[in-house]
Amino acid sequence: MNTKKIIVTGCNGQLGRAVNKLFSEDGGYELINTDINADIKLDITDVDKVTSFVKEISPYAVINCAAYTAVDRQESDVDLSYRINAIGPRNLAIASKDSGAKFIHISTDYVFPGDAKTPYVEFDAVGPKSVYGRTKLAGEEFVKQMTDSFFIIRTAWLYGDGHNFVKTMLKLSESHDEVSVVDDQLGTPTSAAELAKCIRTLLPTENYGLFHGTCEGDTNWADFAEKIFELSGKNTKVRHVTSQEYEKMNPSSAKRPAFSILDNYMLRLTTPFTFAVWQEALETYIREDLKI
Ligand SMILES: NC(=O)c1ccc[n+]([C@@H]2O[C@H](COP(=O)([O-])OP(=O)(O)OC[C@H]3O[C@@H](n4cnc5c(N)ncnc54)[C@H](OP(=O)(O)O)[C@@H]3O)[C@@H](O)[C@H]2O)c1
Repeated sequence: MNTKKIIVTGCNGQLGRAVNKLFSEDGGYELINTDINADIKLDITDVDKVTSFVKEISPYAVINCAAYTAVDRQESDVDLSYRINAIGPRNLAIASKDSGAKFIHISTDYVFPGDAKTPYVEFDAVGPKSVYGRTKLAGEEFVKQMTDSFFIIRTAWLYGDGHNFVKTMLKLSESHDEVSVVDDQLGTPTSAAELAKCIRTLLPTENYGLFHGTCEGDTNWADFAEKIFELSGKNTKVRHVTSQEYEKMNPSSAKRPAFSILDNYMLRLTTPFTFAVWQEALETYIREDLKI
C-alpha cells in the first residue's frame, strides 16, 4: 500500500505528540517529524530551509503543530512571537503550495476580544487583546493569502503530553491544600487527542477553510481545576478569584479574553465529526495518559 507522507512541525509539543500517537495507529500515513530540537531539525521561521525541506519530501500534507505558546512571555518578546506564530505558518503555507501539499494550521480562541455573550462562530469579528492573539491572527491571514488548500483550526485551553493547566494543578496539589484560580474567564478545555482526531477527519477531504475545534461544553478555570481534582481523587480546595485579583498577584500577565467559548459551527455544518464533551475528554486523559 502507498503511504502518504506528512510533515509534522513542532512534533515535540502537546499536539505534535497527540498527532503522532493517533496517526501511528493508521497505516495509511508516514509521518516525517520535525521540531526546532528533534532528530530532523526544522525551524519554521527560516523560509529557505522550510521551502527546500518541503520540496525534497514532497508530502501529501504539512501539519503545523509548532508555535510560541508562552502567552505572558510574548508580551515582551514581540519579534519572536511574530516570527514563530505569523512568519512560520506563512513559510509553511508557501512551501505547501509550491509542493501541492495540503496545509493544516492551528490557531486560537485568543484572536477574539472576549466580550461576546454567546459562543463565537467562524464568521464573528476578531479583535485580539494580547501579543499572542495578534501574532496568531497574523498567521491565519498569511495562510489564507499564501495557499488555497488549507485547514485552519482554532482551538483553546489545550492539554496533552506537555506543560498544561491540568499538570500545573496536579503539581500544586502536592504542596498546597488550596489553590487560587480565576472564575470569570469562560472557555472550553480541549484535549490534544480530540484535536488530533479532528485533524485526521479533515485531512483526506477538500473541505478547506477556517474551523473552530474545541471540546463540547464550557466552563471557567476554577471549575476546571475542581474537576481535575475530583477526577484525580485530590482533596485540594479551589479558591475562586477574579481576574482583577489574580492580576494583582501576577502583574506581568497578558490580558486574556473573559469569554472565549468557541462554537464548532463549521464542523457541524460541513462534517459529521463531533468533539467529546470536555469532562469526558478530561476523564480519559487523566485515566489513560496520566494513569491516575
Ligand atoms: N496550549 C494551548 O492552550 C493552546 C490554546 C489554543 C491554541 N493553541 C495552539 O495549538 C497549537 C499546538 O499547541 P501546543 O500546546 O501543542 O504547543 P506546544 O506544546 O508549546 O508545542 C509547540 C512546539 O513547537 C516548537 N517550536 C517553537 N518554535 C519553533 C520553531 N521556530 N520551529 C519549529 N518548532 C518550534 C516548540 O519547541 P520548544 O518547546 O523547544 O520551544 C514545541 O515543541 C499551537 O498552534 C498553539 O498556538 C494552543
